[in-house]
Amino acid sequence: MNILIVGSGAREHAIAWKIRQSKIAGKIYCAPGNPGIAEIATCVPIPVDAIEKLVAFARENEIDLTVPGPEAPLVAGIVDAFEAKNLTIFGPSQKAAALEGSKAYSKYFMGKYKIPTAYSEIFTDYQAALDFAETTEYPCVVKADGLAAGKGVIIVENFSEAQSALRRCMLEREFGAAGAKVLIEEFLHGEEVSIFALCDGKDYILLQPAQDHKAIFDGDKGPNTGGMGTYAPAPIVTPALLERIKKEIIVPTLAGMAGQGIPYKGALFIGLMIDGGEVRVLEYNCRFGDPETQVILPLLDGDLPEMMHLAATGRLDECRAGTADQSTVCVVLASGGYPGQYEQEKKISGTDSDFDEGILVFHGGTARNGAGDLVTAGGRVLSIVAISDDFQKSREMAYKAVDNINFEGVYFRTDIGAKALKYL
Ligand code: AMP
Ligand code: GLY
Repeated sequence: MNILIVGSGAREHAIAWKIRQSKIAGKIYCAPGNPGIAEIATCVPIPVDAIEKLVAFARENEIDLTVPGPEAPLVAGIVDAFEAKNLTIFGPSQKAAALEGSKAYSKYFMGKYKIPTAYSEIFTDYQAALDFAETTEYPCVVKADGLAAGKGVIIVENFSEAQSALRRCMLEREFGAAGAKVLIEEFLHGEEVSIFALCDGKDYILLQPAQDHKAIFDGDKGPNTGGMGTYAPAPIVTPALLERIKKEIIVPTLAGMAGQGIPYKGALFIGLMIDGGEVRVLEYNCRFGDPETQVILPLLDGDLPEMMHLAATGRLDECRAGTADQSTVCVVLASGGYPGQYEQEKKISGTDSDFDEGILVFHGGTARNGAGDLVTAGGRVLSIVAISDDFQKSREMAYKAVDNINFEGVYFRTDIGAKALKYL
């Protein structure tokens, strides 16, 4: 099978790494990829949103399976464009991707199928939103309806903060068209967890639950980022809780989508808030998570491209896959200043160190400069992953490996996985 991966982050590096291990994988391409991916696949300089160019590339290079990583091409209809040319692609159609592409749609959907989520109100009129904000309870959450690269969610503590958030979204259009419609949502307390299912429209296969660390600083302080580290499996998800998540959330989601004539295929990522006995959906994402993928795929005991091909062609019932009885921890190394302003093109050293067995280094925002040196080229630069038989050991291994790597301004959280200790 010739395979095309679309994307350039550490998530796509982890996908490429797992696909590389498959016996059925032939040529592996990545558009546009990064220097880490280039060590295991052929990178082609096509941007993720150049859908027609990607279709043409897949046809010319006899690609048997395309795997889009990020949400933007999925929400823009890459799956529909590929399927119109009879090309097999692992992901949801444009209509199904609206579960992530429009928070108003996902709220409507959850209401219709009685899937537990936070209470929210939707506004297209700034004054109406302000009027509601004057009477609602705080804290609450102001959310841009559309895709905003993870930045369109603002937690507000009082009316004046809500007013400023609504102004930024609706009047100043800080998130572009994504902020024309806004949700004001009840604030949920608890612990977040990320659940992933491979779906074929009817059936699904669950991967290991993971926990992300969204805030930039230790102790979950400071602004939210794309994710500063992860671990899996997340012990907060007990077997009993997982059964409830399946029954109350995953099964009704897939049945609801199919019932609306929009069967969901591809990776379904459900962000949940768990508060004692309460489980509620924070959001749906129509793709794998970053940095969740970096800890989930190393634990997957199965042939990833085969699974994705079966999912894309509606045959997941034929799939056999298991889970390794191991633990993974991922620490993200970020550029100093991220998620605000940061400098780039800092030389990176140590990625080729003689690491212990069980260490994986996935590239995110990296590039080669004119002299061929590896340099920083983004906010989240590298994902350092450790896999072992023991969660504590994986944590220690990951942080020990981090010590080998350096670039000017390197920043990482020192408490990845600390939240899991109380469950162990
Ligand atoms: P979303 O893109 O909707 O998942 O929001 C991004 C992040 O904002 C989530 O992962 C949570 O950390 C936080 N968040 C979103 N909605 C809520 C909510 N209703 N209550 C508390 N935190 C939230
Ligand atoms: N780590 C959260 C996300 O990928 O959206």
